[in-house]
Amino acid sequence: MSSSPRATVYLDNAASQAMLPVALEAMIHALTLAGNASSLHGSGRRTRRLLEESRETIAAALGARPSEVLFTSGGTEADNLAVKGIFLARHRADPRRRRIVLSAVEHHAILDSAEWLAAAYDAELVILPVDAQGFVDPDDLRRDLAEHAEHTALVSVMWANNEVGTIEPIAELAAIGSEFGVPVHSDAVQAVGHVPVDFAASQLSAMSLAAHKFGGPQGIGVLLIGRDVECVPLAHGGGHERDLRSGTQNVAGAVAMAAALRYSVDHLTEAAASTSALADRLTDVLLAYPDTVRNGPADPALRLPGIVHVTFEHCEGDSLLMLLDAQGVECSTGSACTAGVAQASHVLLAMGLSMEAARGSLRFSLGPATSLDDIAVVADVFGPILDRARAAGLVGSGRLPIAVQEGSHA
Ligand SMILES: Cc1ncc(COP(=O)(O)O)c(C=O)c1O
Repeated sequence: MSSSPRATVYLDNAASQAMLPVALEAMIHALTLAGNASSLHGSGRRTRRLLEESRETIAAALGARPSEVLFTSGGTEADNLAVKGIFLARHRADPRRRRIVLSAVEHHAILDSAEWLAAAYDAELVILPVDAQGFVDPDDLRRDLAEHAEHTALVSVMWANNEVGTIEPIAELAAIGSEFGVPVHSDAVQAVGHVPVDFAASQLSAMSLAAHKFGGPQGIGVLLIGRDVECVPLAHGGGHERDLRSGTQNVAGAVAMAAALRYSVDHLTEAAASTSALADRLTDVLLAYPDTVRNGPADPALRLPGIVHVTFEHCEGDSLLMLLDAQGVECSTGSACTAGVAQASHVLLAMGLSMEAARGSLRFSLGPATSLDDIAVVADVFGPILDRARAAGLVGSGRLPIAVQEGSHA
């Protein structure tokens, strides 16, 4: 292992991807223009035109109608609006509807929104389990709704999991929801731009996306929501975005998001092929070490192309992460950490991993800028790092051998 500084090997694209040049260029141009999209003068109208063209581009790229595109500040806000807004609308229309059906592996933007509704509105949370590869079983949803559809406000199951990359059977789940008249939302933040996504064909009622996961800027996202889906706004004010999300729109962000999405969708097949070839190479490198297991679906068609999630037994993922970072290799663990005590990822625990295995896991997420040279760097540094982390071992108390920051999977 060399001690000379290396160029950074960025393998945390699922947390945030660098902006694509087309998006950056579009954004810089839009940032130079004055105007509020709600103003009536020429500059306002020009800004409005850019916003509406972006809305049309996003809708066309995702099989949606422009009027179904609501701009938000990102994935978290889109998820909050979907879960809280749809729940509140349906609960108010019929107070007996207080059930929210979720998968066990949702992002905290969904889980915590639902938990907030449980505390504030007495919502009942129904958690769909997942199997060892992270899949929800549509039969579980069918059985649940067959009995309880009348009292269910909404279903929310993510399109693809942010930790292990499992692609959920969304079309089947959405069809079951529509059969029982229950709206189904999907957090597609990790899927959009990486695997084919068609909102109309999916039969979903609502779907969240975030630009920074596919080469657009941070701080902008979209909630796609059908025109007939009842939803109450969480932000009140000027009545922007169908009166569901007040606030002056981030036009430069929308323009850049549209450019990134158009580019990602147009290049999706080639990008997925080259990313998954690199992911396979990285997997071979990592699984060559003893006591290592790849997590997530075995079938590459059922997982995101760029995610490699591996358990390294007998050590802390956080130790590996910090040692890799010191060598310029950036990846992520699923653990959240409070006051130096590692918490295992709820996703891995739901998939049946032990606490120790969950804590000894890392997510490497590849993106368009990932190269074979990056994988070679990992191959070069990983052996000694794994030895060091295993020598430190799993710390029984949960106290980490290496200081880590608070945080969890993006
Ligand atoms: C599945 C999933 N949902 C929601 C989010 C939140 O998105 P944002 O970072 O845009 O708020 C993320 C990313 O962190 C994610 O991976």
